[in-house]
Amino acid sequence: MRLAIVEAGKVLAEAGVASPRADAEMLAAHVVGVPRTRLPMVPLVDPLTIETYRQLVMQRAQRIPLQHLTGWSAMGAITVEVGPGVFIPRPETELLLGWALAKLEGVHSPLVLDLCTGSGVLALALANARQDANVHAVESDASALAWARRNVEARHAAGDSPVRLHHGDVTDRQLLAELEGQVDLIVANPPYVPANTEVPVEVAEHDPAGAVFAGADGLDVIRPLVSNAAHWLKVGGSIGVEHDDTHSEAVAELFTGRRVFTEVISHPDLAGRPRFTTARRISAAR
Ligand SMILES: C[S@@+](CC[C@H](N)C(=O)[O-])C[C@H]1O[C@@H](n2cnc3c(N)ncnc32)[C@H](O)[C@@H]1O
Repeated sequence: MRLAIVEAGKVLAEAGVASPRADAEMLAAHVVGVPRTRLPMVPLVDPLTIETYRQLVMQRAQRIPLQHLTGWSAMGAITVEVGPGVFIPRPETELLLGWALAKLEGVHSPLVLDLCTGSGVLALALANARQDANVHAVESDASALAWARRNVEARHAAGDSPVRLHHGDVTDRQLLAELEGQVDLIVANPPYVPANTEVPVEVAEHDPAGAVFAGADGLDVIRPLVSNAAHWLKVGGSIGVEHDDTHSEAVAELFTGRRVFTEVISHPDLAGRPRFTTARRISAAR
């Protein structure tokens, strides 16, 4: 298998795949049915397995996302099913999850809201880590919602408390009026890429456009989302919103402009680029 992986890595590098060796190993692990770390322990594999691997590598070389080939994506301690019609969760969103879990420490039975949930991944990772949490998640796209529903059912069957899914538009001021002033924590990874931005083939051809792009400046969803969040959060509640690395000042201004927010903080990703902004609500929403 080792030789096949080395060859696959070269093929994927030539095809312009961003992390060729890692992807070659992930596909091998998928085909053989072991975690990637156990690949060195795998003995000789049969020709059929090698052929299956070769076909998957060819598909990846056509820039079909790795997660569409394996069928899953990880976040925190869980995996969710993903495929065509839903946004593939990104590793950088783990940082938002980590911040959220730290914020919830010491908060008993928190009410949590995940806006723009896609596959449901953030909501489900939070519900898994905090079994006492009451987690709601909102998604506007019917196809993404179907993936989220499947993942919610699977995690519930695995023993996690159920996430409540809502089909809705997070920019709608009337959405979830029943949660007004109740929410301890909001997380959001909305679409935020400015229209006409060049993106990798995997994103352009396989992520739903409505999950990626958000108007000319990329803030078409974040702008009303910040405003609505002020209504859903309880006094003392917190929000974390992922955004484009060029948006840190604009998003901070949206929070400070709302006046009911304080402690507006920009957080970097692993590459040191501003990736998400957090804030805390201090007084009654206006
Ligand atoms: C960047 S994806 C993030 C998905 C998921 N939270 C994650 O981190 O993998 C954004 C999601 O927001 C959804 N979306 C876009 N505009 C929305 C809106 N106005 N209201 C609700 N959901 C929206 C998209 O369909 C997509 O599933």
